[in-house]
Amino acid sequence: MDAAGWNARYAASELVWSATPNQYVEARLASLPPGRAVDLGAGEGRNALWLAGLGWQASAVDFSDAGLAKGAAIAERLGVEIDWVCADVLSWAPVEPVDLTLVAYLQFPLAERRRLVANACAMTAPGGTLFWISHDSHNLPHGVGGPQDPSLLTTADELATLLDEGWDVIEASRVERQVTAADATRETAYDTLLIARAPAGG
Ligand SMILES: C[S@@+](CC[C@H](N)C(=O)[O-])C[C@H]1O[C@@H](n2cnc3c(N)ncnc32)[C@H](O)[C@@H]1O
Repeated sequence: MDAAGWNARYAASELVWSATPNQYVEARLASLPPGRAVDLGAGEGRNALWLAGLGWQASAVDFSDAGLAKGAAIAERLGVEIDWVCADVLSWAPVEPVDLTLVAYLQFPLAERRRLVANACAMTAPGGTLFWISHDSHNLPHGVGGPQDPSLLTTADELATLLDEGWDVIEASRVERQVTAADATRETAYDTLLIARAPAGG
């Protein structure tokens, strides 16, 4: 979907995503010491808002200004500072490398996924962390949610191969998320989770 499509989606409802961070963002990043973070494809900024609340100096980057505007309104209510940046995540770069680069549910075809991983690696400081979560290919036969086009889905093994040379894989796994269907039944969604550390500088 292009920026206009996302803008229409964000304009059509109160909050498209939850106001709380993704459960794996919270579980895996809570103990990381705060520094500079970038949330790529931040949408309404749920993960950037959570990081900023923990003391991170966060930038939220998305090409949908409607999504970012909703996040900015929440930030103002919460009294947290975030740098809201309307830009394409495939080409945008921060002024300085960051300690944490977060990518949540950006479902791109392989060529763009490669470019996104390369850009995310390039903006991460030596020793910094890349956190990636996305809808997993396992959803098609066994799970729910996310795109139904297999080319947009991921596996942890494939993602790990896209990392720049020298990166350390901390976790590359398929994880489960319980979701509630319209009829209130509980269903399982499968996500690809990749956490990796940039090579130390020097
Ligand atoms: C599924 S939403 C995820 C939002 C957020 N990461 C979250 O987990 O709540 C995907 C977001 O990526 C943004 N997006 C998609 N392609 C993009 C691109 N090339 N540049 C910037 N943002 C993009 C969309 O506008 C949308 O807000």
